Amino acid sequence: MSGEEQFKKIISHCKEYGFIFPSSEIYEGLAAVYDYGQNGVELKNNLRLFWWKSMVQMHQNIVGLDSAIFMHPKVWKASGHVDGFSDPMIDNKDSKKRYRADVLIEDYQGKITAKIDKEVAKAKERFGEKFNLDEFLTTNERVVNYTKEITRIDEVLKAALEMGELSKIKSLIEELEIVCPISGSKNWTEVRQFNLMYSTQMTATDGESELYLRPETAQGIFVNFLNVQKSGRMKIPFGIAQTGKAFRNEIVARQFIMRMKEFEQMEMQFFVKPGTEMHWYSYWKQNRMKWHQALGTHDQNLKYHDHLKLAHYANAAVDIEYKFPFGFKEVEGIHSRTDFDLGKHQEFSGKKLQYFDAETNQNFTPYVVETSIGLDRLFLLQMCENLVEETLENGETRTVLKVNPVLAPYKVAILPLVKKDGLPEMAEKIYNDLKFDFNCFYEEKDTIGKRYRRQDAIGTPFCVTIDYDSLEDQSITLRYRDSMEQKRIKIEELHRFLSHEISWKNLLDKV
Ligand code: GAP
Repeated sequence: MSGEEQFKKIISHCKEYGFIFPSSEIYEGLAAVYDYGQNGVELKNNLRLFWWKSMVQMHQNIVGLDSAIFMHPKVWKASGHVDGFSDPMIDNKDSKKRYRADVLIEDYQGKITAKIDKEVAKAKERFGEKFNLDEFLTTNERVVNYTKEITRIDEVLKAALEMGELSKIKSLIEELEIVCPISGSKNWTEVRQFNLMYSTQMTATDGESELYLRPETAQGIFVNFLNVQKSGRMKIPFGIAQTGKAFRNEIVARQFIMRMKEFEQMEMQFFVKPGTEMHWYSYWKQNRMKWHQALGTHDQNLKYHDHLKLAHYANAAVDIEYKFPFGFKEVEGIHSRTDFDLGKHQEFSGKKLQYFDAETNQNFTPYVVETSIGLDRLFLLQMCENLVEETLENGETRTVLKVNPVLAPYKVAILPLVKKDGLPEMAEKIYNDLKFDFNCFYEEKDTIGKRYRRQDAIGTPFCVTIDYDSLEDQSITLRYRDSMEQKRIKIEELHRFLSHEISWKNLLDKV
């Protein structure tokens, strides 16, 4: 199955099984905005809880925060977002459509890559078993020229972006003869920077002021640094963790929940003594990779991507990338942000944001190492990694979401074999006993086989079937999602069994 086909399957599975719906769908939807359905919200909540427990519950020196989405407008001036948080945009004068200029160029490169793939497919067919991919890529003249062209475009684009030379980006678009996908014309405007923040008005007694919807949660942490440090008597090094919505006016809406206008971040700012930041940067870089591995994500699907060109406030930065069906893309960033943010907020607010070190009797502005992950991207990662289609011995196929049981929307499905003869009553009693500790699903309709398939598709790790024997021996049939193995166990043992199998401790222990 091609990456594109796999991705389409994931998107339609998310809709069909109540994980993710397009926002305002009955009104034709809203580009790059999505709603989480009945199963999606459970999985998302569990992912957020895992992150929260890993940060706050597992570290004595990390505490939580829930700051407001609205903040004083000066926050965004100080952070640099008002002046610098923008993308290079270009408009087509005929279609009146706006595009990210760099994405138009990347799409053009994508078309060249598709040509390479076509050549490879043809050669594979021609040479059969003898085909050697590496040799073909480095010796076939056409493919070598395509690859050179991709690299050349990369270099021109990168240099223009780094130097902020927008006219060079326009020249590249013209040179490559890129046309508007809607109008088909090359009638482009100049390239301009377009700020990604949404603004709104707040009415106060002294008039209206312009507010921004936060584009990252991190600034709420910086401005509360001293509040938390003093009220919590926190000693450096310490961290503040926060999860919440962030908003960015992303013009290029694509790849489902990968790039949204309204999304959720999980960020932790770790405040350290200047000079120790590289030690902590390396600690968090490793810790965060371990966290992803603990969730069962395969090593070969994860990699680091070091930032070669650093933002002006950073002295080190790395992304953790996941191999999505459309290629390796960023899921999380770990940034050593120096004292840039606290320093800027001191400058703009006129308030001291310093830490008093009782050992050395000195004040200093702490340095910050940040870990920042998008919850929606993590959700998509889970879907891509764990949604599998299996062919069974009888030739049938089943779709299974093999997420870690702790993350599964429902932990156990309670299924009376038939809807009569006292089986539903017994099943309901089991449901009512378990529901306090586990999110349980109850279902009486359809054949047991169909019910198992539906639970597989939403990732329920265990199914419990109550049959006529259950009335006699007080036992049930327990079915495992992944192996489909079935065994009989006593009803009185069920709670202990589930507690053992679905354990936060097992998961957190691995981080
Ligand atoms: N405070 C640092 C910060 O915001 P970022 O790289 O811009 O850094 C961090 O964002 C993470 O937020 C990304 O790694 C990604 O997972 C997620 N993210 C960013 N923009 C997003 C968008 N438009 N839609 C979904 N997730 C996004």
